Amino acid sequence: MKFQLTSENITKQRRVCLVVGVFEQHELSPSAELVDKASKGYLSKLLKSGEFAGKPGQTLLLHNVPNTTERLLLVGCGKQKSPLSVQDYRKIIMSSVKALNAAKASDAAISLTELSVLKHDLSWKIKQAVAVCLDTAYQFTEYKSEAGEPQTLRSVTLSVTEKNKLTAANHALKEAIAIAAGVQFTKNLANQPSNVCTPSYLAAQAKSLAKQYKSIKVKVLEESAMKKLGMGALLAVTKGSAQDAKLICLEYKGTAKKSAPIAFVGKGITFDTGGISLKPADSMVGMKYDMCGAATVLGVMKAAAEMKLPLHIVGICASAENMPSGTACKPEDIVTTMSGQTVEILNTDAEGRLVLCDALTYCERVYKPETVIDIATLTGAVVIALGHHASGLLANHQPLADELLAAGIETHDRAWQMPLWDEYQEQLRSPFADMSNVGGRTGGVITAGCFLSRFTKKMHWAHLDVAGTAAMMGGGERYASGRPVPMLMQFLLNRCGNK
Ligand code: BES
Ligand code: ZN
Ligand code: MN
Repeated sequence: MKFQLTSENITKQRRVCLVVGVFEQHELSPSAELVDKASKGYLSKLLKSGEFAGKPGQTLLLHNVPNTTERLLLVGCGKQKSPLSVQDYRKIIMSSVKALNAAKASDAAISLTELSVLKHDLSWKIKQAVAVCLDTAYQFTEYKSEAGEPQTLRSVTLSVTEKNKLTAANHALKEAIAIAAGVQFTKNLANQPSNVCTPSYLAAQAKSLAKQYKSIKVKVLEESAMKKLGMGALLAVTKGSAQDAKLICLEYKGTAKKSAPIAFVGKGITFDTGGISLKPADSMVGMKYDMCGAATVLGVMKAAAEMKLPLHIVGICASAENMPSGTACKPEDIVTTMSGQTVEILNTDAEGRLVLCDALTYCERVYKPETVIDIATLTGAVVIALGHHASGLLANHQPLADELLAAGIETHDRAWQMPLWDEYQEQLRSPFADMSNVGGRTGGVITAGCFLSRFTKKMHWAHLDVAGTAAMMGGGERYASGRPVPMLMQFLLNRCGNK
């Protein structure tokens, strides 16, 4: 999908489907007003008939309205309690795209960026519009032998009513497109089935990113190297699998200055059966998405390189497959992590923290980052606690947590912080090792965070548990969302602004 902006009167566009907003009680948006005037009151007459109530997200496609585009799409914007809420703004863009595709429109001119949205400026409206358009139109059809309903929408023109804001708006558009490319990359990787997307496949994807962007370097650690480094926890997870584990390390340098990097560490379990602590069949569906943290890291690296951010960024994917077999690790096995701390594996299904702890230690020792953020589909507990709207956030440095919370609100890719209090640490006690890998049923998101916190003591660290937000699984629906790429890109952009 191509995007462009126009500061001309958008209702003068021809050969497009024009999208204009209409409020409840027959109130017209500025563009709807212009169309109404040009058509000598066509819209106001129609609205008086009561055929279109203007409820948020309601749409009506009109043909041959006099003196305007051949096709006109009315979109309900709710009560004209200007300004719109963020939720309603997103909803009206989403339903516009759905209606445009249903109408087989290929080119659209969308005037909705002219509406005021609570606490947000034009640049924000453009960024959200682009993100929502692409999210709504996204399809993953690689394995369909028959094309379903194709998405027809090819080009979208957004209106910029204030001419003096055109430069800023164009800058926002560029950012939005680069971020969307990262989001799409993440979704495409996540949606691949695990018989295709193995740790080796993720490593190959990382290498192809490095080929595409000269600013990215990649290094892949094999199991033999992990053995030498003493990564006993990561290796315990991969023991039962026929696939080789990979520790994929990417480095992006967008600045000549020597500086400690910002590091992202992603959980890349390409399939999580639970291992010997086998999951029930129903809980296993969706577990191809257990590599969404790693896919996020790769999407962020891509978008950062695309935007040529003046930052030093490291991305690490800890990738393995969690399988049961005669060589698999077993409950009560004790392993030594790269940090030297020992772990009693009481539940082999708590494998994410086992691959992450060694990746975090490696990250700390090799890259000495100023900040590290790990991203993981780590616990079912976070889905129970926060549902699908917020990622769980834990951090050992409050300013870092605040930066992520703010970036999440800005992009509508939100997180909610949970406490990392010492009291919870006690749940990880093991009678035989330095710690157990599980902390019991209560506070599962937090005890998982507590486990990781023992490997990040020397760094400013935040942990994002994205089990509920990176992908929808279970129920009828299954899809990857590309989250939290938008939040992390905004976090990086804010870092650039503050330098
Ligand atoms: N990958 C799962 C977490 C998960 C659950 C992601 C549901 C997405 C949807 C993780 O490896 C896991 O199995 N966690 C266990 C931890 C428990 C054994 C302490 C869980 O949540 O049950
Ligand atoms: Zn898992
Ligand atoms: Mn698991």
